[in-house]
Amino acid sequence: MWQKENLQNLIKDKMKDYLFIVVSNREPYVHVRKKGNIEWIRGIGGVTSALDPVMQSCDGLWVAYGHGDADRDVTDSKGKVRVPPDQPSYTLKRVWLTKEEEQGYYYGYANEVLWPLCHMAFERPIFRSEDWECYKRVNEKFAQAIIDEIGDRKAFVWIQDYHFCLLPKYLKQKAPRQIITAHFWHIPWPCHEAFRICPQKKEILEGLLSNDLLGFHIRQHCNNFLETIDREIESKIDRERVSIIKNDHETLIRPYPISVDFTGINEVVNSVAVQEKADALIQEFELSERQVLVGLDRIDYTKGLPDKLRAIDRLFAKHSELYGKVVFLQIGVITRLHIKKYKELNDEINALVEEINWKYAVSHWKPVVFVRRQFSLIELLALYRISTAAIVSSLHDGMNLVAKEYISSRSDHKGMLILSQFTGAARELTDAVLINPYDCDEFSEGIFQALNLTEDDRNKRMIKMRKIIHENNIYHWAGKIISELLEFEFRD
Ligand code: G6P
Repeated sequence: MWQKENLQNLIKDKMKDYLFIVVSNREPYVHVRKKGNIEWIRGIGGVTSALDPVMQSCDGLWVAYGHGDADRDVTDSKGKVRVPPDQPSYTLKRVWLTKEEEQGYYYGYANEVLWPLCHMAFERPIFRSEDWECYKRVNEKFAQAIIDEIGDRKAFVWIQDYHFCLLPKYLKQKAPRQIITAHFWHIPWPCHEAFRICPQKKEILEGLLSNDLLGFHIRQHCNNFLETIDREIESKIDRERVSIIKNDHETLIRPYPISVDFTGINEVVNSVAVQEKADALIQEFELSERQVLVGLDRIDYTKGLPDKLRAIDRLFAKHSELYGKVVFLQIGVITRLHIKKYKELNDEINALVEEINWKYAVSHWKPVVFVRRQFSLIELLALYRISTAAIVSSLHDGMNLVAKEYISSRSDHKGMLILSQFTGAARELTDAVLINPYDCDEFSEGIFQALNLTEDDRNKRMIKMRKIIHENNIYHWAGKIISELLEFEFRD
């Protein structure tokens, strides 16, 4: 089984003659100004916490957009700083973007084109040629930042996500013999019918085909990608090797389901700190003697938050015996607010929460508590542990790490996961209560069922799901990708 140590050893043994570079939009450490002092915080997200130990063991280079308000104060003239700040062991190189670049590349092309294009949430992409120009410029800027660092060395470059479709092409153009690239696509890849509307589809596909290895979460996304290439790009598809050959260059296409640090979570979840936090949360939100349903999502239209609230509404409409006995506590993390759709979604959620609470509140009890603040890992684990079930209602999701984090936290074998069948995680977690978030009746029935499972049933299902995540943990994900990457040979 892959654990942190195997991964670190692999990197130490095999990577020593090469430079190992990770590229992502978000940075692993952010420097911020607080009350006149410079402080640092860890970047958010599972990928950051998974790749951080990898980078620490190979003294690699992480290239990312520097967006903290004190980021420039701690870097050298090349934008570099050693991290983790409290125990430096690798280098973070920050790429600086102007407001205009952030607007066109991040908000515009990445999040108003590629995000809605790849998620089947019926949100129309907005194509603006100026955003595309900006996206290309920023990809080029990242490529140059990487090339400046490589010098005459050989480098493995591991690119993260939909922010960098053109980066592999620019890198290979600039240093064809020195670079091997792997690219992991963290969101779904849609069917060809959906993708073909994109005016820049050919350039995007050609950019991605410059990679040596291209990974998606599940086989379905790989198949969608192969079909898209088949219909759009003159190339040869090798179905045996599952690869695409274009102009004598081969790109391997592979599924790698991302996961969480199961062992790490289990070490923390039984701590006194989590227990104390759990008691504090019960007090703060008046949860004592009540069944608690929890949710944790970025406030994004792909997460099905209005659908989740409507299912909660239906649950209380059908089951008045639950009044005063069940609370739905949702944490919503504000994101991409600069985009109109996200603002509208926030307003829609506020209205729904207000309406449901107005309809069903009795004396001091309110059915919905909606919290808009970032929870620390300790708080999150505490919240998971006091819940009867967690609800993940994504309309479409590459994987969904909240689902896996929740299962990992239940070392007590209690709780239950109510999971949208349209998440990548639903392929592995078949013992969850699987629901269709578009079907309000079925969804609310699923919640009711999860509230009423026998202890024995919960136990059995949890044990099975935990075994899966224990084995297919985050180090398994990274280990598989890095092992495959190491098989490639540099061109002479
Ligand atoms: C989701 C996706 C990631 C993506 C992230 C970006 O979590 O699954 O692939 O990188 O959103 O979020 P951000 O807040 O950086 O726009």
